[in-house]
Amino acid sequence: MKTAIIYASKHGSVERCVILLKERLLGEVDLLNIHEHSNPDIQDYSDIIIGGSIYMGKIQKEIIEFCNKNLDILTNTNVGLFISSALMDADEFKKNFPAKLLETCRVQENFGYELYIHDFSFIEKITLKFIPKEYLNNYGIKINKIEKFINDMNINKTR
Ligand SMILES: Cc1cc2nc3c(=O)[nH]c(=O)nc-3n(C[C@H](O)[C@H](O)[C@H](O)COP(=O)(O)O)c2cc1C
Repeated sequence: MKTAIIYASKHGSVERCVILLKERLLGEVDLLNIHEHSNPDIQDYSDIIIGGSIYMGKIQKEIIEFCNKNLDILTNTNVGLFISSALMDADEFKKNFPAKLLETCRVQENFGYELYIHDFSFIEKITLKFIPKEYLNNYGIKINKIEKFINDMNINKTR
């Protein structure tokens, strides 16, 4: 029984979510950054968590490609999907993950967001100025959502 966390993070917020998940999960947990492991072998995992961040409405394309390529395995495994994004909009999942995976996955959650402005490009800093302030109200990664996600995935009870 082991868990894979397959993820993409541009500036580090998703990376932080992944570390918080790993700290709270029992048993063996492999962290697989999709930019370092473009097509990880996921046959041996009992539980799979997939996550990425949203830029201009879209998750990293490598995450979508991974989901489509591995759809048969993923739809027959205990899967949890998460995003890190400023907008708390359930449509973000519909727009970014294959419909079949959304039907079969156990959990979908937005863990919230952070902005590592010191790491942003000039274009990103400018883009940020155009995001309406009300979208940026609820700043921060939500630990309670991460803990509920693990609980709802039912990973601990299988061990
Ligand atoms: C240039 C830019 C564009 C963004 N676009 C969106 C967006 O379209 N929707 C959204 O909900 N959040 C948006 N965000 C917020 C990011 O999704 C959020 O900061 C996330 O935590 C980044 O995760 P990462 O550091 O792991 O890449 C944007 C952030 C930046 C800097």
